[in-house]
Amino acid sequence: MSGASQDPAGSALPPRRSIWRNWVTLAGTVVAVGSFFAFLLLFAIDTFGPGQHNPYLGILSYLVAPGFLILGLVLVFGGAWWQRRQQHLYPERPAPTLSIDLSQPKQRWRLFWFGLGTVTFLLCTALGSYQTYHYTESVQFCGQVCHTVMEPEFVTYQRGNHARVACVECHIGSGATWYVKSKLSGAYQVYSTAFNKYHRPIGAPVENLRPAQDTCERCHWPEKFAGSLDRVYNRFLTDEKTTPYTVRLLLHVGGGASAHGPVGGIHWHMNVANKVEYLATDTQRQKIPWVRVTSREGKVTVYRTPDYKGEPDPKAVRRMDCIDCHNRPAHAYRSPDDAVDEALYLGRIDRSLTSVKYNVVELLTKPYNSVEEASAGITNGLRKKYGADAKIDGTIAEAISIYQHNFFPKMKADWSSYPNNQGHKDSAGCFRCHDNNHIAEGSKEKIAAGDCNTCHTILTQGEGAELMKLSADGQTFKHPGGSYSDDLICSDCHNGKLQEP
Ligand code: HEC
Ligand code: HEC
Ligand code: HEC
Ligand code: HEC
Ligand code: HEC
Ligand code: HEC
Repeated sequence: MSGASQDPAGSALPPRRSIWRNWVTLAGTVVAVGSFFAFLLLFAIDTFGPGQHNPYLGILSYLVAPGFLILGLVLVFGGAWWQRRQQHLYPERPAPTLSIDLSQPKQRWRLFWFGLGTVTFLLCTALGSYQTYHYTESVQFCGQVCHTVMEPEFVTYQRGNHARVACVECHIGSGATWYVKSKLSGAYQVYSTAFNKYHRPIGAPVENLRPAQDTCERCHWPEKFAGSLDRVYNRFLTDEKTTPYTVRLLLHVGGGASAHGPVGGIHWHMNVANKVEYLATDTQRQKIPWVRVTSREGKVTVYRTPDYKGEPDPKAVRRMDCIDCHNRPAHAYRSPDDAVDEALYLGRIDRSLTSVKYNVVELLTKPYNSVEEASAGITNGLRKKYGADAKIDGTIAEAISIYQHNFFPKMKADWSSYPNNQGHKDSAGCFRCHDNNHIAEGSKEKIAAGDCNTCHTILTQGEGAELMKLSADGQTFKHPGGSYSDDLICSDCHNGKLQEP
C-alpha cells in the first residue's frame, strides 16, 4: 500500500506530527546555529579586532562559516522533506516522537547529553574557527603545508631580509577582492598540487601578484628619500690564486617626491611623479623593446629598440612598480658565483686552496637530480682535487650548504630560473632598458646608460692598498676580465656560472 490518498476514509490514523521533528533536522539546526555563532564571532573580530587584518579572516567569516550555515540549513530542510515523505509513504507508522518527558530518567539523560553535545559543539566551533584563523595567517601554513612545492620559496625567504614579514603581507594584503582572487588561484594551486600538475619551477613573474602599492608600500613609504647607499662588492677571479677584486660604489637610490628631498636617482622611476610603462615580449619580462614615460607635466616620450616596429597591445603594457626592479625581495636564489664569492670573503671557503673558486663553482653548476646526489658529487669532486685532508672539510661543508640553500632540483628552482632585476651583472636587469639601444621617437635621445656613473659612483676598485684611494667624482671601471666590445652588456658573458673561455 502506498499513498496516503488511497487510505480508506475513517481509518484510525495516528495524529500527524510536525515534519520538523526529526533527528536530521535537529542536527542541521545545531550545525546552522553553530556556524552562525562562529560567523558572528569572526565578524566581530573582523570589525572590532585590533590592528591589521589577516586576509584569511574574510575567507573564514564570509566563505567558510556561511558554507556550514548552508549545510546546516540543507540538513534542516532535507530532514523535514524526508520526514514528510515518510509520513506519506507510511501513514500508519507513528512519527518519531520528540516530546520530552522530564519525569522519565531515560529522557532526562537524553536531554542532558544532547545539551552537553550542543554546548561542546558550539565551543569547538568558536575555538576552531579562531584557531584556523590564526593558523592560516602563519608562515608555516603558506610555506610548509605544500612542502616540496613551496620549499624553494620558503628556504630563500627565511634567509632573506623579509624573513619576519608574513607571506600573506606581500602575496595577498588586506581587503576583500584580493583574497577572493588569491583564493580562487589558491584553489587551483591545491588542485594542481594534489594532482601533480604544477610547473617546475613555479612560474614567475606571478601574474596575479597584487600591485606593490597595496603591499610593499604599506611598509615602505614610496616618498621616502633614500639618498646614496654605500655598497661594497667583494669578488674573486677564477684564477689559480683566486685573486680578490673589490668594487665599492655609491648607489644613487635617491627619491621620487620633491617634498622629501631631491627627485632623481634610481627611485626616480617610482610612481610618485612620473609614469613609466613598458612592453615585455617574453613571459619573464626580460626583453623590453618599448618604453613609454609620462612626466608630471603630461609630456609623453616613447622609447623603442630599432628592431621593434609595431605598436603594443594596450592590455600587454605594464606600469612599472617596485617589483620590476625588486623582483626577488623575499626569494633571492644566489648564483654560484655570488654565493662562492661571499663564502670566500667570509673565510668559509679556504682561499689558499689552488683554483678553489673555479672548482667549487664548477661542481655547483653540474646537473644533479637531488640534494643528496649533489652532496655526494661535491664531496667526491673536492676530495679528488684536494685529497682526504681534514683541512678541506669546512670548504666541503660550505659548498654543500650553498647548494642546499639555493638549489632545488626537485622544483627545478635556482638562480637561473629566477633572474634578479635589481642590478645588471648576471642578468640584464636595469640594462633591459638602459642599454643604449632604446631610442626616443622624435628626439632620438637614448635612455641614459652610456655613463657608468649615472646610477652609481665607483668610489674605489681593485685589491689591497688600491682600495684606500677613494674618488668622489667616480672612477672609470677597470674590468678585471679585460676589455670587451661596446655592443656587449655584462650579462652577455656573466651569468652566475664560470665564464666560457
Ligand atoms: C617581501 C614580500 C614577500 C614575502 C614576505 C613573500 N613573498 Fe613570495 N614573492 C614575492 C614577490 C615580489 C614575488 C614575485 C616576483 C615576480 O613576480 O617576479 C614572489 C613570488 C613567490 C612565488 C612564485 C615563485 C617565485 O619564486 O617567483 C611563490 C611560490 C611564493 N612567492 C611563495 C611565498 C611564500 C610561501 C612565502 C612565505 C614563506 C612568501 N612567498 C613570502 C614577495 C614576497
Ligand atoms: C610588513 C612590512 C613589509 C612589507 C609588506 C615589505 N617589506 Fe620590504 N622590508 C621590510 C623590513 C622590516 C625590511 C628590513 C629593513 C632593514 O633591514 O633595514 C625591509 C627591507 C627591504 C629592502 C632592502 C633590503 C633588500 O632586500 O635589498 C627592499 C629593497 C624591500 N624591503 C623591498 C620590498 C618590496 C619590493 C616589497 C613588496 C613586494 C616589500 N619590501 C614589502 C618590511 C616590509
Ligand atoms: C628602477 C628600479 C627600482 C624601482 C622601480 C624601485 N627600486 Fe627600490 N631600489 C632600487 C635599487 C637598485 C636599490 C639599491 C639596492 C641595493 O641595496 O643594492 C633600491 C633600494 C631600495 C630600498 C633600500 C633602501 C635603504 O635605505 O636601504 C628600499 C626599501 C626600496 N628600494 C624600496 C622600494 C619600493 C617600496 C619601491 C616601489 C615603490 C621601489 N623600491 C622601487 C631600485 C628600484
Ligand atoms: C622598463 C625600462 C626601465 C628599467 C627596467 C629601468 N629603467 Fe631606469 N629609466 C627608464 C627611463 C625610461 C628613464 C628616463 C629616461 C632617461 O632619463 O634617460 C630612466 C631613468 C633612470 C635614471 C635617471 C633618473 C633621473 O634622475 O633622471 C636612473 C638613475 C635609472 N633610470 C636607474 C635605473 C636602475 C638602477 C635600474 C635597474 C635597477 C633601472 N633604471 C631600470 C627606464 C627603465
Ligand atoms: C641604469 C643604472 C646603471 C648603469 C647605467 C650602470 N649600473 Fe652598475 N649597477 C647598477 C646597480 C643598481 C647595481 C647594484 C646591483 C645590486 O646591488 O644588486 C650596479 C652594480 C654594479 C657593479 C657591482 C656588480 C657586482 O655584482 O659585482 C659593477 C662592477 C657595476 N655596476 C659596473 C657598472 C659599469 C661598468 C657600468 C657602465 C657600463 C654600469 N655599472 C652602469 C646600476 C647601473
Ligand atoms: C666579453 C665578456 C664580458 C663582458 C661583456 C663583461 N665581463 Fe666581466 N668578466 C669577464 C671575464 C672573462 C672575467 C674574469 C672571470 C674570472 O676570472 O672569474 C670577468 C670578471 C668580472 C668581475 C670580477 C669577477 C667576478 O666574477 O665577479 C666583475 C665584477 C665583472 N667582470 C663585472 C662586469 C660588469 C659589471 C660588466 C658589464 C658592465 C662586465 N663584467 C662585462 C667577461 C666579461
